[in-house]
Order: sequence, then structure tokens, then C-alpha cells
Amino acid sequence: MDKVRIGVIGVWGRGAIARNWQASGRAEVVAGMDVCDRNIAIFKREVAPDAWVTKDYRELLAREDLDAIAITSPDYTHEEYAVAALEAGKHVFCEKPLAITIEGCDRILRAWQASGKRLMVGFNMRYMNMFRTMKEIVDSGVIGEIKAVWVRHFVGHGGDYYYHDWHGTRENTTGLLLQKGSHDIDVVHWITGRYTKRVVAMGSLDYFGGDKPNDLTCVECPEQKTCFEAQPNSTRIQCAFRQEIDVEDHSLVLMDMEGGIKASYLQCHYTPDYHRNYTFIGTEGRLENSEPDGKVWVKTRASGTWRQLADRTYEIKKAHGTHSGADPVICNDFLDMIIDGKEPLATPEAGRMSVAVGCAASESLRNGNKPVDIPPIAW
Ligand SMILES: NC(=O)c1ccc[n+]([C@@H]2O[C@H](COP(=O)([O-])OP(=O)(O)OC[C@H]3O[C@@H](n4cnc5c(N)ncnc54)[C@H](O)[C@@H]3O)[C@@H](O)[C@H]2O)c1
Repeated sequence: MDKVRIGVIGVWGRGAIARNWQASGRAEVVAGMDVCDRNIAIFKREVAPDAWVTKDYRELLAREDLDAIAITSPDYTHEEYAVAALEAGKHVFCEKPLAITIEGCDRILRAWQASGKRLMVGFNMRYMNMFRTMKEIVDSGVIGEIKAVWVRHFVGHGGDYYYHDWHGTRENTTGLLLQKGSHDIDVVHWITGRYTKRVVAMGSLDYFGGDKPNDLTCVECPEQKTCFEAQPNSTRIQCAFRQEIDVEDHSLVLMDMEGGIKASYLQCHYTPDYHRNYTFIGTEGRLENSEPDGKVWVKTRASGTWRQLADRTYEIKKAHGTHSGADPVICNDFLDMIIDGKEPLATPEAGRMSVAVGCAASESLRNGNKPVDIPPIAW
């Protein structure tokens, strides 16, 4: 294959990662599909001036000159587009979350197996220097066998990205534990090398949502000058306090994992600061990160024997490119997978397992915090 010929579904917003394929020298973005004329025009101007464009995904998938499809449209479209693209014989890059239900993920996995094509999920956190470093430390064995994981996710941009547009309803996302949390749950699975078996969760809608009309926007709102969440100059302008909002803005999940690991994941969307704080505790030490400081710490237990070595601080190097430099790397991994047959870091099974935990946790927290088992993949 000379160059991988890619078609993008959902050409703006997250679709802008297509720039990385254009710049790679190993791929060409030759087509795009979107439902929004304005976004199609921006894509043509900013990313792929010569691209063929359509508003009908079936027309896009019918093109025989496309090797691969990148699905970067909203979550609730992934299942339909991914299954259709695989059935049309295309390789697929699908943004996280793989789908918004467990059944939807399993349908995609079955279509993937039947197609003989390659599928990869947009878990770009697996490509960030900070989390790659943490994975390497755990794999070195320096903190021993992991038994406890504590993750705190301060979603400082919650009001901006999650409550002013389609992200705010269960119908579109199921919940923010799988929309936003699918990354973190995946990182817990990836770094420990274990999947979750059972969850118990708690959560509520404490701050966003309310009694404002569903069609109110920040642009016409009479409270625009006083509202804490007003963002009339953004592309996301639906009122964050509108009635239809029903996804929790504060959630706590306990995960019973393979290997006897117990993990907790806490997510809050109305914190002032943006930060993901992970702690992994093993039988011989503890690992923790600070995103604001760009550091990772390892503390080893004082054993009083020859085995005690050193506490360490890692200064994480800054990388170029969006999402802490992860986006160019994940886009390259997609090309390596298609051109060289390389196994990608972000696998379809991992995509399914993180959605399964998000769905099970949403079910638990909405049903009296009952324990919910993670079902095996229905191949
Ligand atoms: N991995 C990451 O770091 C990361 C970051 C941001 C977004 N995402 C994922 O990317 C996806 C898109 O998120 P976004 O914030 O860019 O959304 P968005 O609302 O900006 O939409 C992206 C594009 O899809 C188009 N679109 C909307 N409905 C469509 C439809 N039915 N069919 C085809 N195109 C449609 C929009 O017009 C837009 O051009 C989501 O699944 C999100 O979870 C991943």
C-alpha cells in the first residue's frame, strides 16, 4: 500500500486529528462525511481541501478507493457507523467510547471479527508520556504486585465540554462515566493488566441541569451577564441548566478487579481545576502522578533489607501535538497497524471493557448502588 486512503466521519471537532494523517506522509485524507455544512466547509478549508464530501455515510462507505474510516462523530453514532464501515470492508479508527451500550460494543466486535479488517479505539491516554511512564514503572516490578488503585478526576472543563451540548443526556451518552471516564477506566485496566469483574457506584446531578427550557442558548439568555456558566462566544451554547440534562456530574465507582485488585474512580465536573490524579499501591511501593506538576513519584517501602533501593521522582517530558502529544502518536499507530500489521496499543477488547464498566457503574448508581457484574464479551 502506497498511502492509506482515509475517509473521516464527523469531520470537525475531534475530526481535526485528521491533520495528523495528512502530515504523516503515509496517508491521505480523501473524503469526509458530516451532517453539518459549516463543519464540512471548515474541514475543506483547514484539513483536506481536495476531499470529496457528503452528508450520507452510505455514500462514503460505498467508495472503493477508501482503505480506512475514522469515526470522530458523537458517541451515539459510533455503533452504526463502525459496524457499517467494517461490513463495507474498511479498516476503522473509532473514537472512545466504542459505543454507548455493552451490546453495541459487542456488535462492533463481532462485525470486526467477521470482517477480517483492523479496528482500533481512540484511547490516546495510552500514548501520553505521563501514563506511558507509569505503565513502564509498574511493568518493571518496582512497586510489586498492585493491590489498590485510587483515581481522582477533576473535570475542570465540565461545564464547557459536557453540559452545553449533546453530552448532557443519557440518550446520547448513557452517562459521563463512560463518555469521560472510559479513558480513566481504560488506563486502570491497561496499567494493571487486569480487567474489572464487578462494580458498585454512587452518583448524582448536583450542580448542572435544572428548570431552564431545553431550547435556551447562552446567546439569547437574559442571565448571560451574571450566569457562572455562560459562554455565548463558544460553539457549545446550549444552557447548562436546561431540563433535559440527566447525566450525573459527580460519580464514585468501586471496582473489584481480576487479581484481587480493588480500585476506586471519582469524577467531578464542577471543580475549578483540571487534573487526573492516579495512585497505584503495590506490595512493595506506591506510584502517583501530578498532571499540573508534570511529575510522577515512586515511593518504595523501607524493608530494612538489600531490596530497598530508592524513592524516585520522574519529570515528564513535554511532547508536541494535541492531548500532550498523544494525538500524532495514536494516528501513527493506526497507520502502523494497517501498513505493517502492528498490534495497536488501543485494542477493540479494551474499548469494550471500559464501556462495560461505565455502563455497569451507571446502572449501579441509578439503582440503589447495587453491585453489577461485568458480562463477558458476547462474541
Ligand atoms: N480521545 C480523545 O481525547 C477525544 C477528545 C474529544 C472527543 N473525543 C470523542 O470524539 C467524538 C466527537 O466528539 P466532539 O467533541 O468532537 O463532538 P462534536 O459535537 O464536536 O462533533 C464532531 C463532528 O461530528 C459531526 N457530527 C455530529 N453528528 C453527526 C452525525 N450524526 N453523523 C456524522 N457527523 C456528525 C459534527 O458536526 C462535528 O463536525 C466523541 O465520541 C468524543 O468522545 C475523543
